[in-house]
Amino acid sequence: AIQKTGLKDAYGADFLIGTAISNHTLETQNSELLGLIDREFNTITAENCMKSGEIQPSQGNWDWALADRFINFGVEHKKTIVGHALVWHSQVPGDFFVDANDNQISRDELIRRMDTHIQTLMERYQGKVSIWDVVNEAIDEDQGWRQSPWYEIFGSAEYMERAFHLAHEMEPDAHLLYNDYNMHNPGKRSFLVDVIRDYKRRGVPMNAIGLQGHVGLDFPNLTEFERSIEAYAAEGMRIHITEMDVDALPVAWEHTGAEISALEEYAEELDPYRDGLPAAIEQQLTDRYVEMFEMFIRHRNKIDRVTTWGTYDGESWKNDFPVQGRTNYPLLFDRSRQRKPAYYAVADLGSQT
Ligand code: G3I
Repeated sequence: AIQKTGLKDAYGADFLIGTAISNHTLETQNSELLGLIDREFNTITAENCMKSGEIQPSQGNWDWALADRFINFGVEHKKTIVGHALVWHSQVPGDFFVDANDNQISRDELIRRMDTHIQTLMERYQGKVSIWDVVNEAIDEDQGWRQSPWYEIFGSAEYMERAFHLAHEMEPDAHLLYNDYNMHNPGKRSFLVDVIRDYKRRGVPMNAIGLQGHVGLDFPNLTEFERSIEAYAAEGMRIHITEMDVDALPVAWEHTGAEISALEEYAEELDPYRDGLPAAIEQQLTDRYVEMFEMFIRHRNKIDRVTTWGTYDGESWKNDFPVQGRTNYPLLFDRSRQRKPAYYAVADLGSQT
């Protein structure tokens, strides 16, 4: 018999379980994979196709093809649809911050472009997207606001509140998220708590925080992660776990930036399990998923959604980060799209609650 229930059914409708849909899946319209997604998840996020560099690859030139497919799939299958992301410093079209002569645009022009981008995109899918990642990754590690072109050209972080006001005008009932990674970081937490208080005082319509949840087997410290869930919720924010995955390879977390080029020389060590994932690592991966979901369930009343960043190991961004061509194992379905031990453990937890 065809199985119709999946992970989503082990949790309730008040605790959504989601996945991110890749461009590749939308391009190929792989019906087996889309069927699996339909069965297992009740909320979907666009992994890439709604980012500004993809959907408006140059000023005024919109490419709706994949996003339309994504939205149509969600509407047809009655999924809660997440729009990702309206304002981000990454995956921005090459000409976004410059004029025809390649000079940096003015603050007024940036406002015009930002407003047009948000309004055009949100208008097209009005009434269909109930959760928006309005601003993504605007806060730096321990240093306050990220010094991105948004910040530099605006001359302040006001671009962020402007984006929230606009998003609220366009979709008054939507969950409007600020979304970021490394949310266990106490410096980032206290900075964001101050932002939330300031926004609340001044009526900036941000109503939820997205903790991405890209973790490793023993990074980060989950006590700190949990403190962040509690701290944002205590300020009245709904909590969304927006991009969860568990990096199973040992070196990924300790190396960033300049060190990545050095790591490329040791590519073999970057793929230590090329002969197969050892049972002990598979177990650690399962345990990590369990620890995370136990924490989420403890805070069930604060958390609206947990989304994994992709469906199966073969299509995860973790195979290309921090260097390309790795074989990573971060998700709940393996390369043959079969349920992993972590899947069954997470499903069991859900059905016990
Ligand atoms: O579409 C092109 C394709 O035409 C080309 O042949 C290929 C060659 O490299 O690149 C393709 O684009 C890639 C795109 O993913 C689609 O696969 C980009 O190079 C690649 O940079 C891009 O990576 C995405 C990354 O964001 C970009 O920053 C990942 O898939 C995506 O998972 C990742 O997601 C982010 C969230 O949006 C925000 N939070 C962190 C998270 C992980 O970095």
